[in-house]
Amino acid sequence: MSRTLRMHALMLFTFVLILSVSTLASSTSLKVGFYKTTCPSAEAIVRRAVNKAVSLNPGIAAGLIRMHFHDCFVRGCDGSVLLESTQGNPSERDHPANNPSLRGFEVINEAKSQIEAACPKTVSCADILAFAARDSTHKVGGIYYTVQSGRRDGRVSIFDEVTQNLPGPSFNAKELISNFGRKGLSADEMVTLSGAHSIGVSHCSSFSNRLYSFNKTFSQDPSMNPKFAELLKSKCPPPQTQTQSDPTVVFDASTPNRLDNNYYLRLQKHRGLLTSDQTLVSSGLTRNSVLRNAKHGSRWGVKFAKAMVHMGSLDVLTGFEGEIRERCNVVNFN
Ligand code: HEM
Ligand SMILES: *[C@@H]1O[C@H](CO)[C@@H](O)[C@H](O)[C@H]1NC(C)=O
Repeated sequence: MSRTLRMHALMLFTFVLILSVSTLASSTSLKVGFYKTTCPSAEAIVRRAVNKAVSLNPGIAAGLIRMHFHDCFVRGCDGSVLLESTQGNPSERDHPANNPSLRGFEVINEAKSQIEAACPKTVSCADILAFAARDSTHKVGGIYYTVQSGRRDGRVSIFDEVTQNLPGPSFNAKELISNFGRKGLSADEMVTLSGAHSIGVSHCSSFSNRLYSFNKTFSQDPSMNPKFAELLKSKCPPPQTQTQSDPTVVFDASTPNRLDNNYYLRLQKHRGLLTSDQTLVSSGLTRNSVLRNAKHGSRWGVKFAKAMVHMGSLDVLTGFEGEIRERCNVVNFN
């Protein structure tokens, strides 16, 4: 071989190497329309299941959006929140942050069984949940975005990881920023996503300390509008008399099933339900984001969609990682 020929061969080899490395890299990231050829009906099946369930009970939309959040913050968006506990291994799903309040599991199962009938072992539960959260957002908020797919399902779900990763309802702005920051989400994205608390409900136990036993100086949280506190007290019994019952209260009494920026207007009126809501306007770290979202509803909607896409890409399994679960509640047998 002549020297130039050798050079050419080397260059070609390098070129092919770079090409194959870069296609390998792109095949292991999410993309819009991942199932276009392998399961073209997947997204439509999820949409129909969500529309049907949400028409019957609008609260399911809130449940599915929250479920996606709880999935993504614990071990990434890998469907780990859907797994049931097994002997000796309590799962995320049974953590008090999820059980009994998380709802919408039956919608995921319904979509999954229809999708399995159409294209077996092809579409992950993690993707079904991401589609379902998107379709819920569209249905109750009129906010639409395309969802990237290609997530694979994890085989692990650990109870204790929920405590370590999900923010608590008593977190202040600084703690929330640091919690979201660890996931690579900005303070503004945190404030933007908190707007999801314009739909759905909370159990009294998630905020009743604000009504009855705030701190040594105040029995009631002084950052809460007193009239709002009275209303909540009429619905939530004091913790002592909270025997078994833990009633729920809607986040936004005026439009409980409409995902909109009214959440931020309520914060300005000191009508945020959780400490983690009201802190966003009390704190200088997040106040301006709240004011902007309160003022510019459609801009908030665009930001919400973007932030959902970002959240939906956290620590995903792709390519040959994980598996395609056959049933969303349990890992595959083999
Ligand atoms: C910022 C930190 C957050 C905290 C501390 C938090 C905490 C909570 C709590 C305590 C509840 C009530 C649970 C109950 O007692 O029933 C709740 C409900 C809810 N959360 Fe969050 N959350 C946060 C962020 C988010 C995000 C990022 C989303 C989604 C994008 C979200 C969506 C929802 C929805 C839709 C509900 C109502 C669920 C239903 O009605 O079934 N939350 N959240
Ligand atoms: C009680 O809460 C108020 C309002 O958040 C705060 O200013 C005060 O320092 C707290 N008092 C104690 C004893 O923690």
